[in-house]
Amino acid sequence: MIAAIITAAGSGLRLGPGDPKAQRMVRGLPLFVYSLRTLCANQLIDHIVVVVRSDAVDEVKDFIAHDPIAGPSSTEVNVVAGGATRQESVALGLASMDAGVDHVLVHDAARALVPAEVVEAVIARLMDGALAVVPVIEVTDTIRSQVDGVLGVVVDRNSLRSVQTPQGFTREVLVRAHQSVGVAATDDASLVEALGVQVVGVNGSPEAFKITYPTDLIFAEALIDQQEAGSR
Ligand code: C5P
Repeated sequence: MIAAIITAAGSGLRLGPGDPKAQRMVRGLPLFVYSLRTLCANQLIDHIVVVVRSDAVDEVKDFIAHDPIAGPSSTEVNVVAGGATRQESVALGLASMDAGVDHVLVHDAARALVPAEVVEAVIARLMDGALAVVPVIEVTDTIRSQVDGVLGVVVDRNSLRSVQTPQGFTREVLVRAHQSVGVAATDDASLVEALGVQVVGVNGSPEAFKITYPTDLIFAEALIDQQEAGSR
């Protein structure tokens, strides 16, 4: 059984004043609902856990129950309270999973417009036997290191990839990674890699960008408008 965790318990301070990021209304819907609908539409995902700030659990449960797509979906959707860091939020989501789950996708609600094909590619690679899968895209900026305010060397961008979500794992590997003490990471694949497990890449998408700054919201709205015009 495949399950997904949507991490939606961040504050989104970089997005500027307003509701926490995942609940920010974007073209009439809270941000987390976009990727929730995409994951619900995938027939291979049986169970989704949305991890939100503790003060938002009831409101989010209510919203999902009344959502015309996620509400009646055959996918079981639960809402649990997250923690102080993304890593803690994932661990709390993981702890709430049914015993029958053997593969887990972890997706950031902030990557609201992830295309269905990216989700499918991650699952396909997992079903092929990979233990850890991440969607990646090429880096377009020139990247330079900076330590204590002093610019360092340019890193060859041809050897770099931006890492997106959903990231897919066997449940056993993900649980073990989260139990390993002393490692702090901004994504789950880094934790898994610290165990010595190989992480496999599949094609991500520029549309799976992480909504972080106010300008990202403008881009997201334009993409939603374009998708809606295309589906009419
Ligand atoms: O802060 P950052 O942009 O790295 O957050 C990535 C994702 O992790 C977001 O979807 C955010 O809601 C989530 N997150 C979380 N719990 C936290 C912090 C972030 O679920 N304590």
